[in-house]
Amino acid sequence: MSTHIGAEPGEIAERVLMPGDPLRAKWIAETYLEEARCYTTVRGMLGFTGRWNGVDVSVQGSGMGMPSASIYAHELVNEYGVKSLIRVGSCGALTEDLALRDVVAAIGSSTDSNMNRMRFDGLIDYAPVADFGLLRTSVEVAERRGISMRVGPILAADAFYTDRPDLYDTLADYGVLAVEMESAALYTIAARFKARALTILTVSDHIKTGEKTTSQEREQTFGQMVEIALDTIIA
Ligand code: HPA
Repeated sequence: MSTHIGAEPGEIAERVLMPGDPLRAKWIAETYLEEARCYTTVRGMLGFTGRWNGVDVSVQGSGMGMPSASIYAHELVNEYGVKSLIRVGSCGALTEDLALRDVVAAIGSSTDSNMNRMRFDGLIDYAPVADFGLLRTSVEVAERRGISMRVGPILAADAFYTDRPDLYDTLADYGVLAVEMESAALYTIAARFKARALTILTVSDHIKTGEKTTSQEREQTFGQMVEIALDTIIA
């Protein structure tokens, strides 16, 4: 067992979906996976393994923010041999041309986190990016399923509540579509330990207009995004 995941070796599949919310992990497992069983309840950060179209897939909650997500991504890859990780989460839209409930695949992730500055001694602005193969497959899957999905860069922020919304406007000027809180760490850890990673998000709130989705809307669009992620991870 690893420090934060209470699973025996072999209980976690090589392919893992990672929602931030552990109850979303439970919902995904119960809604989509055949014969899903829970392999960890440590700290309430639930993880399940089951099958999607006959292929073993796990779903592991990551918690919110890069410190938490890093712990789970690190242990999944280094202690359980996970090869592919797809984060499924929500984001705040930074640009007017994104609407609530739109699905976004993150090609790359800027960040205000200090983690990579520490990694590279402050000498390099490392660019965390998605695995090209997973990204390409997700685009094909979304097209096949008739779901429109935007592909573009996002921001992984350390703070949900910011004192500097002006920086969000500047990032939008540079084509950054949305903000969430985990992708840069996930992409960095996957690159460092030779795994593949992708982040797919649905727009839950709009930073420019202040609009928010209802919980029922979030559930519906969350399902579409999960289906893209599941088809992608077994391809
Ligand atoms: N900020 C950061 N993360 C988020 C947001 C947000 O506005 N919405 C959903 N995840």
